[in-house]
Amino acid sequence: MGNESSTSVDEATRPITLYARSIEAVAQYIQEKDIKNIVVMTGAGISTSAGIPDFRSPDTGLYANLARLKLPYAEAVFDISYFRNNPYPFYTLAHELYPGKYRPTVTHSFISLLHKKGRLLKLFTQNIDCLEREAGVPGDKIVEAHGSFATQRCIECKTEFPGDRMKEMIQKKEVPRCIGKTCTGLVKPDIVFFGEALPESFHRNRSLPAKAELVIVMGTSLTVQPFASLPSFVREETPRVLINLERVGSLGSRLDDVLLLGDCDEGVRKFADALGWRDELEELWASTNPNKNKKDAYEAPPKTRQERLDEEIEKLTKDIDATLKVTAEANERIRAELEKSATQKPPPSSNPSTDTPSAPTTSSYFGLSHVYPHLKADKLEKPSL
Ligand code: APR
Repeated sequence: MGNESSTSVDEATRPITLYARSIEAVAQYIQEKDIKNIVVMTGAGISTSAGIPDFRSPDTGLYANLARLKLPYAEAVFDISYFRNNPYPFYTLAHELYPGKYRPTVTHSFISLLHKKGRLLKLFTQNIDCLEREAGVPGDKIVEAHGSFATQRCIECKTEFPGDRMKEMIQKKEVPRCIGKTCTGLVKPDIVFFGEALPESFHRNRSLPAKAELVIVMGTSLTVQPFASLPSFVREETPRVLINLERVGSLGSRLDDVLLLGDCDEGVRKFADALGWRDELEELWASTNPNKNKKDAYEAPPKTRQERLDEEIEKLTKDIDATLKVTAEANERIRAELEKSATQKPPPSSNPSTDTPSAPTTSSYFGLSHVYPHLKADKLEKPSL
């Protein structure tokens, strides 16, 4: 266990393993040392761009939005003792979160690319959305530390419940009960609720971070133990990369910690650029597009924040130019009209010296001269009455 603190490393102190604390240095380390034992640790933040809210982001997080379920406290939705008394809030949420509705993010595809390149030792995820599997990461490479929707069972007698019936009941927002002859227990997906033990696979693999040659932590607040302790099991000289909107845990306190603070999809794209894997990453992510067989399936990668800003500024300047252009043309036209009317003789009925516009009369220009003073009477046809 390294000496964990949340203080930042002094910029002056040199890393032990990397040539610099930068994503380019990590990319060079992976390629020069042919690093194959990368451990990835993820949380809900890597699925937010798929449309699945995380838990604790203010305003957008699930816990901020569960108030409508009238819970005694937000986490009750995942609390086993609360579930026993009232399973409805969880099944309301399950209806929204159930796998199959969402497409993996480019961050999921980045993890899948690490595996395809033979460099992923293990992925520890806290997520229950199964998007890692949908992105192509094989089950034996994944530790679903908080379980998943993949299987379900009775919370009393542990009898397994069929997957197809579970999917049907969740879609109908019905609460499934045990199929055992004598048991009427509630059925729950194998998601780890507060108050329940983590799966055996977590304990069997928790020695792997100490064997890792590189650790990548993405999209997690590192709030919930024992998952939150994993990064501290990593050896002191092993580089740790955090790709997250905010700094979390002890990441940033060690000499070989690299922080990429911001959107994780943008962060993994930057990482892929440094590795020279960007095209492969975009191609792999495009293959997760459910419409990929349609002719216009290829989706350009979503624009970065900077690209969206540049586009907005360009649009604004275009609008301003257009407005200025119209104004200039209008000014030109008005100037020409004024010049033309200034060179014309005043009509007999008006007195140029006073130059007060005369009230239109039928004998002059059928009453429209005040509208078109520059046009001659014969130009103004007599309106058909
Ligand atoms: N890019 C990068 N980081 C993001 C993004 C994004 N697009 N969206 C959110 N984040 C970050 C947030 O800033 C936060 O630090 O991801 C983290 C999400 O934290 P949580 O909402 O706490 O989710 P998680 O860490 O997975 O929660 C752990 O808590 O309630 C339990 O069982 C539940 O598995 C869950 C566990």
